[in-house]
Amino acid sequence: MIRKTMMTRSAGMLAVGAFALAAAAVWAQNATAPSGATVSPVPTPSVPAVTMDAGAPPQTPAANDPQAQLVRQGEYLARAADCAACHTAPKGKPFAGGLPIASPIGTIYSTNITPDKDTGIGSYSLEDFDRAVRHGIAKNGSTLYPAMPYTSYAKVRPADVKALYAYFMNGVQPVAQANKATDIPWPMSMRWPLSIWRKMFAPAVVADTASTDNDPISRGRYLVEGLGHCSACHTPRGVALQEKALTDDSTAFLSGGVVDNFLAKNLRGDVTDGLGNWSEGDITAFLKGGRNDHSAAFGGMSDVVQHSTQYMSDDDLTAIAKYLKTLKAVDPNAKALAYDDTVAKALRAGSDKSNGALTFLDNCAACHRSTGKGYTQTFPTLALSSTVNSADPTSLIHIVLRGAEMPWTKSAPTHYAMPGFDDRLTDQDVADVLTFVRSSWGNKAPAVTASQVAKVRKDVGAAPQLQR
Ligand code: HEC
Ligand code: HEC
Ligand code: HEC
Repeated sequence: MIRKTMMTRSAGMLAVGAFALAAAAVWAQNATAPSGATVSPVPTPSVPAVTMDAGAPPQTPAANDPQAQLVRQGEYLARAADCAACHTAPKGKPFAGGLPIASPIGTIYSTNITPDKDTGIGSYSLEDFDRAVRHGIAKNGSTLYPAMPYTSYAKVRPADVKALYAYFMNGVQPVAQANKATDIPWPMSMRWPLSIWRKMFAPAVVADTASTDNDPISRGRYLVEGLGHCSACHTPRGVALQEKALTDDSTAFLSGGVVDNFLAKNLRGDVTDGLGNWSEGDITAFLKGGRNDHSAAFGGMSDVVQHSTQYMSDDDLTAIAKYLKTLKAVDPNAKALAYDDTVAKALRAGSDKSNGALTFLDNCAACHRSTGKGYTQTFPTLALSSTVNSADPTSLIHIVLRGAEMPWTKSAPTHYAMPGFDDRLTDQDVADVLTFVRSSWGNKAPAVTASQVAKVRKDVGAAPQLQR
């Protein structure tokens, strides 16, 4: 397994020793994406409709009451930060915690962040809350596992932390539900190494600076680096599983990372595998509706759209899009791909008898068509797709084996699904069909091998390949 290997490899390299490493590795990559092989799928479609009125608390303030406004602002920010994704267990009460997050050395559980005094954060002062959310330090002084993305939230301005606090204290229903201890065995369960990790890798927490939100690009940067914690999934990780960059100072930032056996792909300006060919409008449509003319959300991103970005204002989505469009390509010399109809003609003429072409015709062409162009907004195009042309084929293998479902969104309520082929196609068939897809219609990406497929099949818990 990827995560075990990473842990062993890193253990030799980290000066702070094996303990520190093990502990640091704990949150593993999939810690940030609470859906996956060993982790139960994320919450329910309807992210907690926790509102002022539903929320019980004493005062029922009028709409123009500043405190009520602060609570509403906090609710919006909690959505943008997707706190519910991790702090709400499947079928669990909103924000009551208990979502299992797998790691190589055991399972950790998210905590109860409802304002219940005994089991939640009801006794937290604003300072305690801030220390947990932005500094990664619990009320009892111990360091949190970085599964809680405090390295991103460190960028959140104090004024916004205050609004979040107001919402969690006054807008969320208290739930009495005790936290579950991790099942990580001693000595790995000791938390002190996490504080070493924190000192090495957590950025400075931002001071109370004036907001620069009236400039859309600054607003976009603020949302992406901070509340949106986009880099928790989209930035590659170093030896201690720290994000290789937390800002655009390095082209590693948002250049793609593997999370939960999906590639959270390159969001930089690259024309082949990044967002170089996406317009601002394409990006906002994707974040709002989960699909556009280039692609449709799947894997961890489907959850992000469903629970978080679809609720963001058009201004904020535009700000994110404008900011993402400022990110320079990792490879500025790469040539844009151009559509080529040779393969479409060969498929129609029946002249390509390769296993890849035949597997495609039998299993994929009904939806994605022999032109590879699919049906707009329904079955995404495979031709010239940045997802298909990513060097790392993990997402493609995963989606072919297990299928995928688009997110449910207000603006695009019909969500289409793709079936999984794990029980129908062998590792070699999957490798052949993906190699075919990655070299047809103008696509230019490396071949996929049967051993790559075998590995993903095992990691994602897909059905064993059928024996012929
Ligand atoms: C990617 C998953 C994830 C997201 C998103 C997330 N958290 Fe957490 N959070 C966790 C986990 C896991 C823990 C427990 C860590 C531990 O036990 O060391 C935690 C711990 C906390 C704690 C400490 C609670 C305690 O019992 O001391 C607070 C407070 C908290 N989170 C608030 C938030 C808020 C507010 C948001 C949104 C702004 C948020 N979290 C978003 C995963 C997440
Ligand atoms: C929980 C992990 C996770 C987080 C957090 C996350 N993403 Fe993603 N994202 C993914 C994965 C996995 C994919 C690949 C699947 C897909 O294309 O839908 C993806 C794909 C995308 C795509 C589609 C790119 C393409 O070329 O198809 C965009 C745009 C995107 N993410 C933007 C964002 C932004 C902006 C944020 C922060 C607000 C964010 N993501 C946060 C996991 C994540
Ligand atoms: C029943 C229709 C259907 C069939 C058959 C089908 N797909 Fe899909 N495919 C979809 C849908 C719908 C999506 C979008 C899923 C999502 O976003 O969650 C998709 C997404 C994809 C993607 C990701 C594209 C992107 O940018 O989001 C790839 C790659 C893909 N399919 C390849 C294949 C291959 C290869 C086959 C044959 C082995 C196949 N599909 C068979 C409907 C289908």
